[in-house]
Amino acid sequence: MSEYILEMNQITKEFPGVKALNHVNMKIKEGEVHGLCGENGAGKSTFIKILSGVYPYGSYDGEIVIRNVVQNFQNTSDSERAGIVCIHQELALVNELSVQENIFLGNEPTKMGVIQWEELYRKTTALLEELDLKINPNDKVKNLGVGQQQLVEIAKALTKNAKILILDEPTSALTEHEVEILMNIMRKLKKNGVTCIYISHKFNEIFEICDSVSILRDGSYVGTRGIQELDRDSLIYMMVGRKLEQMFPREHHTRKELSLEVKNFSVYDEQNPSRKLVNSVNLKAYKGEILGISGLMGSGRTELVSAIFGAFPGKKEGEVWIDGAKTRIESPVDATEYGIALVSEDRKKYGLVLGMSVSENITLSSLDKVSNFILHPDEEVRYSKKYVSALNVKTASVETIVKNLSGGNQQKVVIGKWLMTDPKILILDEPTRGIDVGAKFEIYKIMNELIDAGVTVIMISSDLEEVLGISDRILVMCEGKIEGELDYKEATQEKIMYYATGGGN
Ligand SMILES: Nc1ncnc2c1ncn2[C@@H]1O[C@H](COP(=O)(O)OP(=O)(O)OP(=O)(O)O)[C@@H](O)[C@H]1O
Ligand SMILES: [Mg+2]
Repeated sequence: MSEYILEMNQITKEFPGVKALNHVNMKIKEGEVHGLCGENGAGKSTFIKILSGVYPYGSYDGEIVIRNVVQNFQNTSDSERAGIVCIHQELALVNELSVQENIFLGNEPTKMGVIQWEELYRKTTALLEELDLKINPNDKVKNLGVGQQQLVEIAKALTKNAKILILDEPTSALTEHEVEILMNIMRKLKKNGVTCIYISHKFNEIFEICDSVSILRDGSYVGTRGIQELDRDSLIYMMVGRKLEQMFPREHHTRKELSLEVKNFSVYDEQNPSRKLVNSVNLKAYKGEILGISGLMGSGRTELVSAIFGAFPGKKEGEVWIDGAKTRIESPVDATEYGIALVSEDRKKYGLVLGMSVSENITLSSLDKVSNFILHPDEEVRYSKKYVSALNVKTASVETIVKNLSGGNQQKVVIGKWLMTDPKILILDEPTRGIDVGAKFEIYKIMNELIDAGVTVIMISSDLEEVLGISDRILVMCEGKIEGELDYKEATQEKIMYYATGGGN
């Protein structure tokens, strides 16, 4: 009897023009939390899609062995029957259905074929309570933020009694508190003998929860290590193949003219128009500085910037001034004309058209640059190649459909699309979510270059290390208000958290 619950042997998977996995092995012990690490495009999601039957037997080479038995999964139902449940990186909820319908989809409590709504509601409420989630079971999924959607997805997976639970970047949209909830759930599952495979770009989570880690690089298996044999540097070395000297390229910036001024700005909830999500905010952003906006999820940061950008559906009040003149921005098109670009946190909603190519996506908001009444495909390709190379997007070509890129590489395409508009004011909402260490560094360097070129950069981030590492000045929001302002030289995680949780109030 093998000591491993799961062995994946010599897995090879090719897509047209891409060898996503090349003879990859992984052995997993029963009851452990096994991390899977690697750069964007290394093959992590592909690997677990093979394990969970998304890619059926026959579409890859190699074998999946569970408790010494070779498995030939044709689909995800087959793998679920073998006890494998996977929470995929791309959320798979049905937007028009409620939270409870999504959680028990295909698995609803029924009596003689009729759905028992009361029981469904009761079960969902109990589950959400156990997970400490404050979500209404009747809310439609489309009205939830990405973080909450991710939690609903996790709740759904927990109803399936997994023996092997796979989580592909489950925390990219979660707050620290929610991450802690998830870690506790995983510890509980582990006590009950459940085996977990955990994919994340966040090292503190890997070191907190994993017992061992396997590393992929460019589709190849690099190795597996016990967590006590690893530290951050050695893990990065195995992932990237070289040492990374620093995480944050801090440069000296000199603040120049005032560029964006927001006066007495309020934003109201669309569903509940008496509720203020952003409450009388005043802020100034200058050329030549990176302005960081920190705060807990739900503190109004995303609503603030999307309303400035004209993309927020609810009512707004107050004024937005650019270069000393009052603006009228009612839509993203208006905002783009004023030179504002917004890299949104929800790339599927505002950022990307998944069915279009890399080059079509990159040029989508800059059609004036690649067309002269008619579209010039050569220009489109020339421009998009520039950004693909600057951001090191891993793609077979600029004609590849964006849906076929890895999650992190899709995020890079969104950034490229907005860089191409040559913005005067670039607003980035969680820009490095799902992006690997090396690529993060490249993005910070680009931000520094933009600062040198006179662009105003505003960055929302829930990653405290990132806010501290890259901002020149930090605003902290809490409950719709700006609660504190810190120069980077005086800022610490503790000070940010003090303001983020209400500060002096
Ligand atoms: N359906 C597909 N068609 C073509 N190529 C694909 C497809 N799915 C993945 N790829 C390619 O396979 C490679 C591995 O992608 P994968 O999604 O497994 O990476 P990943 O390690 O999960 O990265 P990330 O950290 O960005 O999520 C990438 O080069 C990607 O572009
Ligand atoms: Mg992935």
